[in-house]
Amino acid sequence: MVAYKSKVVERIRLPSRDRRERALAEAGYNVFDLDAEDVFVDLLTDSGTGAMSDAQWAALVRGDESYAGSRSFADLESAVRDVMGFERVVPTHQGRGAENVLYGALLEEGDVALNNTHFDTTRAHVANQGADPVDCPVEGAHDLTSDEPFKGNFSLERARSVVDEVGAERVPLVILTITNNSTAGQPVSVENTRQVRAFADEIGATFVIDACRFAENAGFVRRREDEFAGCDIDEIAREQLSHADAIVMSGKKDGLANAGGFVATDHEALFERCKQRAILYEGFPTYGGMSGRDLAAMATGLREAVEAAYVADRLDGVRAFADLLEDAGVPIYTPPGGHAVYLDAGAALPHLSADEFPGQALVCELYREGGVRGVELGSFAFPDTDRPELVRLAVPRRTYHTEHFEHVAETAATVLEKREAVDGLEITSEPENRELRHFTASLEPI
Ligand code: F0G
Repeated sequence: MVAYKSKVVERIRLPSRDRRERALAEAGYNVFDLDAEDVFVDLLTDSGTGAMSDAQWAALVRGDESYAGSRSFADLESAVRDVMGFERVVPTHQGRGAENVLYGALLEEGDVALNNTHFDTTRAHVANQGADPVDCPVEGAHDLTSDEPFKGNFSLERARSVVDEVGAERVPLVILTITNNSTAGQPVSVENTRQVRAFADEIGATFVIDACRFAENAGFVRRREDEFAGCDIDEIAREQLSHADAIVMSGKKDGLANAGGFVATDHEALFERCKQRAILYEGFPTYGGMSGRDLAAMATGLREAVEAAYVADRLDGVRAFADLLEDAGVPIYTPPGGHAVYLDAGAALPHLSADEFPGQALVCELYREGGVRGVELGSFAFPDTDRPELVRLAVPRRTYHTEHFEHVAETAATVLEKREAVDGLEITSEPENRELRHFTASLEPI
């Protein structure tokens, strides 16, 4: 059931086809380089792009901008304690700031970090410490159509085989990303979380949960894991997060804010190490690179993110969008995740091989045809890994309505009708760091 009505609106426009053609060419066929004003429905990311509530806007005005000991930081601490169950919080400017602070405190050159699937900034931060990020997705994670309830889970089998190969002493860190963004936003069960905790204990590793989308994950657990049917979302979230030694959080996702992030933990020594790194990279530990008003908005957002009505509205909204796409004959990853629908570009454009970047070609066509912006997560974004050719259409929180999603589904269907005419792309320039090349590389049609 719908849980919101609009109080503030923003005018959007669909530029002419000519303008879209030109904008795409000027952007080097990389939609990260488009002007947002030239985008009609922007599904590039769900990160920091959502609509805040009236309570959050009110919190902005009351934000305390004191450099040290700000009341808004105390509000954040109490929200993190109440909602997520951790006592100690190190605020950061956003999620990757938290990754830098925490992973820099936990990893050294030559280490190995295990993760159900590393999100790209996580992978880059692990690599930045000289460590090796290794993914442990479950078998079937890349099965685009099976209806397994927890395709985001961590494979203990795969993790054990990595430990057997490299030795437990080289694996000081095990990460669980909930939901699993790089595996189509699929959820992770609490049962799997408990097993990962036991595994981390077995090998003497620190267990971190990347909690960016913890509330969506708890919503799936409530619906799919029998033990938790009927439980409150915050109860489930605290149970799942309680197994971790520390969490990294981007407030731009389930903090329902436009900026912010944090590390939280109950371990005094780890907290101290993170605090010292945060002073170096983020700011004094009661603001961490955020303004007081942003701390306040995130504190309020965290509490809203675990309201039953919010989570139901969120998961049902993404599901309804997926249904519209399926009804229009567009191949998608099913069941859909919590924050996005992932299109199967390999099936949509079967005449293009991986080195012609079918996902990126589909992203460009969605923009050209309907001013829709998505993001490629296939051979272009992940150059050296073997993954399906996916395009993510991320859904900003509390922002778009049925008519927007209908427009996207119609646009995708029109692109598929003309699929034979869609050309592949080749890269004309890319940055030295190929891990993050999809943000800035340029391409052209072959
Ligand atoms: N971890 C996960 C699982 C993420 O999805 C993200 C960001 C981060 C960490 C980093 O957080 O952006 O606040 O620095 N994901 C965004 C996305 C960018 O589009 O999926 P950040």
